[in-house]
Amino acid sequence: MTVKGIVLAGGTGTRLHPVTLSMSKQLVPVYNKPMIYYPLSVLMLAGIREILIVTTLEDITGFRRLLGDGGQWGLRLSYAIQSAPRGIADALIVGADHVDGEPVALVLGDNIFHGPGMSRLLRRAVAELTGAVLFGYPVADPQRYGIAEVDADGVLRGLVEKPAEPTSNLAVTGLYLYDGRAVDMALRLTPSARGELEITDLNRLYLELGEARVVNLGRGFAWLDAGTHESLLAASEYVRTLEERQGIRIACLEEIALRMGFISAADCYRLGEQLGRTAYGRYVMDVASAVQRAGLREVVR
Ligand code: G1P
Repeated sequence: MTVKGIVLAGGTGTRLHPVTLSMSKQLVPVYNKPMIYYPLSVLMLAGIREILIVTTLEDITGFRRLLGDGGQWGLRLSYAIQSAPRGIADALIVGADHVDGEPVALVLGDNIFHGPGMSRLLRRAVAELTGAVLFGYPVADPQRYGIAEVDADGVLRGLVEKPAEPTSNLAVTGLYLYDGRAVDMALRLTPSARGELEITDLNRLYLELGEARVVNLGRGFAWLDAGTHESLLAASEYVRTLEERQGIRIACLEEIALRMGFISAADCYRLGEQLGRTAYGRYVMDVASAVQRAGLREVVR
């Protein structure tokens, strides 16, 4: 079984205009790296290496220039076009050939996840995957999200998209794990009033089967989206605060590829060198040297 990955990096980014009039939202920087690095890092930390980037005709070139075929990070990246913003669940249909009946992890290109034990939590969820696994996060503004009701065993019992009167504060984040039936189930959906295939409707199909589970990320995690000017700045400040304080880098793909054992320390060092005389490049080289010295590889917690 290979779990496939999809990053949805389409859309028009209207809430970030005029910034996104000429470039994809998911290429806009969150502090010191392109936004898409963050969701890509989540899939890598889950151990997923075959990843499809779903984007628009206008933006595909930019993503290819940035990420290439992913071989530098030990990944296999491919690209597909969503010709109109037809909804999050439509990304599964666009990616049907890529998914090829396997389980799949879908992540939204503007979602940022960060927290202790992230890799272990994700790898366990992937290893134990049946039905649908959603990731819940308590929020102060539940009207803005898909809101879940969950029983004591973590089984999803209720799900409403952007409820006017929320019955819980547990938002469903933009990371979704599905078993091999996801594409077929997405094909059964009908478009919502706004003409989109809603991911909440797909999740409700799994709910009706009693086969949707929610992993609550809890208060120790950060879940941020970067879809508005305010949230983009807040996300950038969050990343800068942690990186400066701890001397680490969040969502450094070279480091994650190394620590996950996708590339060697020598490969990682070369990637750092190629980044030239930047603080990012220096960091990548330092991490590679430290890992080589310690003989460590799998040290992602
Ligand atoms: C979408 C989903 C919603 C989910 C959110 C997470 O909303 O429909 O259920 O909580 O992503 O970011 P959208 O951001 O498309 O309004």
